[in-house]
Amino acid sequence: MKKLAELMTPNFLIDLDKMERNIQDMGALCESNGKKLCPMVKTHKSSELAKLQVQYGATSFLVGTVAEAEQLVKSGHKEIVFAYPIAAEENIMRVIELAQKSHVTLSFDGVDAAGQFEEQLIKKHIVLDYLIIIDCGLHRFGVLPENIVELAQQLKQLGHLNFKGIATHPGQVYGASNRAEVEAVEKAEIHALEEAKRRLNREKIEVEIVATGSTPTVAAIAKNQTITTVRPGNYIFYDAIQVALHVVPWQRCSLTVLTTVISQPSKDVFMVDAGTKCFGLDKGAHSVALLSGYGIVKDHPELIVESLSEEVGKIRAIGSTNLKVGQKIEVIPNHACSSANMTSFFIGHRKGLVERMIAVDARRNAFRETSLIL
Ligand SMILES: Cc1ncc(COP(=O)(O)O)c(C=O)c1O
Repeated sequence: MKKLAELMTPNFLIDLDKMERNIQDMGALCESNGKKLCPMVKTHKSSELAKLQVQYGATSFLVGTVAEAEQLVKSGHKEIVFAYPIAAEENIMRVIELAQKSHVTLSFDGVDAAGQFEEQLIKKHIVLDYLIIIDCGLHRFGVLPENIVELAQQLKQLGHLNFKGIATHPGQVYGASNRAEVEAVEKAEIHALEEAKRRLNREKIEVEIVATGSTPTVAAIAKNQTITTVRPGNYIFYDAIQVALHVVPWQRCSLTVLTTVISQPSKDVFMVDAGTKCFGLDKGAHSVALLSGYGIVKDHPELIVESLSEEVGKIRAIGSTNLKVGQKIEVIPNHACSSANMTSFFIGHRKGLVERMIAVDARRNAFRETSLIL
């Protein structure tokens, strides 16, 4: 078995012990609080890692793209929830095809995309389940709780769509700059769902599923009685953003980029062979003010990833360092989900020894989609 130090660079590493602990802990959190676990697969886009999540309690998967859903179904997963609305006939037909091989739940926040689905579902004589997206403060998708009844009644007119419940995502938490701000988002997340459910129940509309999730808020919302299903994504890896938000210490981060120092242009500046095409320029989807640089250099608190070009990065030493040209270092990316999307495989290791390769097989894949285009 190869040692990490013998690998070419750059490469994307997963510390399997750490990742398995992250998966197990989330499974245990859900089990002890009686919640269903529906991880968002955009973080890893890997059907192998999805299988591991099933082993530790995941009962369905939240997908952000049709490609993710197709790969999950191809590899045997049967419960798929679309996080966002799908519109346009070509996309809708792909989802309907999937619904014939698996149980698909859709998500809507208005009547337009739902109406387009209804048109196709009528032709196929199929009924699909759906959730209504609630806006709990991210102001991206969703209706405000005070408008939920009106939308639910409009959607009820569409006979081939079956209302199952409500869902939200408190993505604004990534703009928090301290624990108190995270707690305020948790409160807004819970309040929006409770209020929406209360209004629906008042109209005698049954709400079977109440779903929400984000890695920073999941521990708190899992304890809420109204919520039935939690949908975190990032927790499988964690990253520098989660560390900045004090969700976990850096030692819990399982995904790193292995990179080599290729030049030392001055005493305290080092160039490495990984840049934006490994780390991304992400400072968090909604900009976390707490980050310094583009990642955490493992075991080197004196180093900062100061700037990135496409294939190379500039590291600055802010204290004395023994770093040398030719040395390899591991960097925890700011946003692991964006980083993971830039490789077609991870290298899984335990205690520094390579164990296996893990395919990132649920990305949008040019070869797989050729047949759909030509
Ligand atoms: C709708 C929805 N749910 C859940 C998640 C998972 O959030 P996190 O990666 O913070 O766990 C996301 C992330 O983008 C999302 O868009």
